[in-house]
Amino acid sequence: MKNMIKSFASDNNAPVHESVIRAIAEANQGDAIGYGDDVHTLKAEQKFREQFGKDIAVYFVCTGTGANVSALDHITRSYHAVICSNKAHLHQDECGAPEKYIGCKLLRLPSEDGKIKPEQMRPLMHSLGFPHHAQPKVISITQATELGRVYSVEEIREISRFANEYDLYLHMDGARIANAAASLNVSLEEMTKFAGVDVLSFGGTKNGAMAAEAVVFFNQDLAQEYEYTRKQSMQLISKMRYISAQFSALLSNDLWLQNARHANAMAALLADKISDISGVEITQKVETNAVFAMLSPKAIEKLKRKYFFYMWDATRNEVRWMTAFNTTEEDIENFVDALKEAL
Ligand SMILES: Cc1ncc(COP(=O)(O)O)c(C=O)c1O
Repeated sequence: MKNMIKSFASDNNAPVHESVIRAIAEANQGDAIGYGDDVHTLKAEQKFREQFGKDIAVYFVCTGTGANVSALDHITRSYHAVICSNKAHLHQDECGAPEKYIGCKLLRLPSEDGKIKPEQMRPLMHSLGFPHHAQPKVISITQATELGRVYSVEEIREISRFANEYDLYLHMDGARIANAAASLNVSLEEMTKFAGVDVLSFGGTKNGAMAAEAVVFFNQDLAQEYEYTRKQSMQLISKMRYISAQFSALLSNDLWLQNARHANAMAALLADKISDISGVEITQKVETNAVFAMLSPKAIEKLKRKYFFYMWDATRNEVRWMTAFNTTEEDIENFVDALKEAL
């Protein structure tokens, strides 16, 4: 990658937050028992309990794909099906890992904004009890969605009620759960446990950590023996203390929330500044830290010479610009200037 000014491609391209780096350095003293049997991990688990209540089971893993796949693998059998949106990371961006490791069918529902609704799922319930069809067992929703959109707490509750009606589990891919909570201005607990989520993939990496993700079970029965699934899924990290220390930093003094609020605010600022520029059309409501927009291929090409970002949908020249905890107002100003020049 050459001479890049700034990336607006993904919050994955942001650095690790300095408080997280400090926490890693502080944990880097002497020996600690490996695989999570250490004081740093105990402390980080406690931090999760402060957010989600005592009645949870939490396990640390190192990738979001690993969190999703191992959690879903654990709660399904191979003849089950997982319902998700056709925009789900699970379906589009996990290189077939769900198919390979979970072994389940993914039943993808069409969605423009990454959200799915109970009325779309109802027809799939006809398969229940019919031995020729994969049996729907889990609904997996992404909060915030791959399109930067957010389910309201009531929308999640509605999906959860539907799941209960048919004895399905509700999984949430929360790779950007912090951005969603900041956007809705609700607690993490309200949006997950109290809304009926059974198991959550909790994302730390996009929020300022380095390879720190977690699987949080609210349905404790489902957590039974997950530790074996985690190991089989190659997600049990030997030097766990360095992952745990990162969570302790993010979940202290609301750092997770500040980071998410800032990233969201920068996306809102970008959207505001480009909203009346002719030649750019914002395609999704900006609710978290992503701006999706359509512009001419020529302008995209020019802008890409200065900034790194992804084409989202080449068929309609739609790009994704993403902000992170480290995006500054000046970064936005410069980007908007470069955009105007490119147009
Ligand atoms: C919605 C969503 N889920 C999960 C992930 C986790 O991916 P990874 O395995 O790269 O950590 C991502 C990363 O981009 C994501 O956007």
